Amino acid sequence: MSQSKTKIAVVGCGRIAAAKHFPAFKKASAKVELVAFCDIVAERAEEAAQKYGTDNSVIYTDYNKMLAETDAEIVYVLTPNNAHCEITVASLQAQKHVLCEKPMAATSEEAKLMLDTAKETGMKLTIGYQNRFRKDVQTLKTACTADELGEVYFAKAHAVRRKAVPTWGVFLDKEKQGGGPLIDIGTHALDLTLWTMDNYKPVQVNGSVFHKMKDNYEGNLFGPWDPETIDVEDSAFGFIKMENGATIFLEASWALNIQKPREGQITLCGTKSGAELVGEGAAAPTSAVNGTGAVTFNTAKLGQLVDIDPIVISGPGPMDMGDEPWRVADAELAAWLDAIENDKDPVVTPEQAYIVTQILEAIYQSAETGKTIDLV
Ligand SMILES: NC(=O)c1ccc[n+]([C@@H]2O[C@H](COP(=O)([O-])OP(=O)(O)OC[C@H]3O[C@@H](n4cnc5c(N)ncnc54)[C@H](O)[C@@H]3O)[C@@H](O)[C@H]2O)c1
Repeated sequence: MSQSKTKIAVVGCGRIAAAKHFPAFKKASAKVELVAFCDIVAERAEEAAQKYGTDNSVIYTDYNKMLAETDAEIVYVLTPNNAHCEITVASLQAQKHVLCEKPMAATSEEAKLMLDTAKETGMKLTIGYQNRFRKDVQTLKTACTADELGEVYFAKAHAVRRKAVPTWGVFLDKEKQGGGPLIDIGTHALDLTLWTMDNYKPVQVNGSVFHKMKDNYEGNLFGPWDPETIDVEDSAFGFIKMENGATIFLEASWALNIQKPREGQITLCGTKSGAELVGEGAAAPTSAVNGTGAVTFNTAKLGQLVDIDPIVISGPGPMDMGDEPWRVADAELAAWLDAIENDKDPVVTPEQAYIVTQILEAIYQSAETGKTIDLV
């Protein structure tokens, strides 16, 4: 039986591996098996292999050795952002399909190399933007595809927390992650915006980046941080103009003095209707894995302003895969395996993720130089 299962190798056995991917692999164990676990901290790979591996799983601390030996067909790159490019490129060159966690890379140069290598090698590459599989998002995407909104010419991408700075791991380390909330959670909201608008032609970007809360850790959901070591921004805002004139405002913060956090949510304004993701969305503590959310539509009909308010979508649904509540991670895995088995484009293409990376980088560049960044 096990010969017919898709073999998977994992590089980086940290928190996202444990929270998102390992439970999804376990649930899909009739289809996949984990044959190799790599982490520079050997105990993490060992612990993961014991819990989720097969009897023959192999542990590595060097991904190059792993790539030289493993017969895995897919590599999951689940390391901090600064290692995404080198591990993804090496894996593609070793003829493996790759799912790399978001953001695609810390810089657009690295993202471009990943994209080009996928094209050259003919292997598939996708990025872990699991929010696309939320049911509220899927409903909104269906409405957009059916032209329910008309031409969407203004959008807002929301990724703002009131005070929930992640104090574990390497999130506050600019060298390892490339940035703070913009690259961490802004990336999800921007991905959802571009995907639902189906508009991937940015031409101009302006950005502002703030380091205002360095010493202000009072009340942080995840406990105090060390003001001496935090070197990423606490807020970033972008104003993005697209080739067809459409405009996007992106707000990203881990700590902003606001009443209501809005994360993994978007507002779309079209010529026929508007739509907003307004539910719990990714603001819930288990954001990477749950699927709750709500979407509202607003328009005018019969001389009246009308709100369809809200369509609440939560809990198990058509994509429920069994005994546990429906998780976006399950849907992401199912769609990814389908793309590989049936030689289709993945739901998240590397071309799309590259554009997200370009825009985020331009926001940082604009803030640093005080200038508008042209992307054409
Ligand atoms: N999809 C999401 O919503 C989501 C949520 C959180 C994190 N992430 C992404 O997941 C990635 C990992 O984040 P995390 O929170 O799991 O971090 P983490 O620090 O908990 O885990 C990363 C692991 O990678 C290992 N590692 C580092 N360099 C390595 C290398 N060269 N070879 C092998 N192992 C290496 C580390 O030892 C660590 O165990 C980041 O890119 C982050 O942006 C995505």
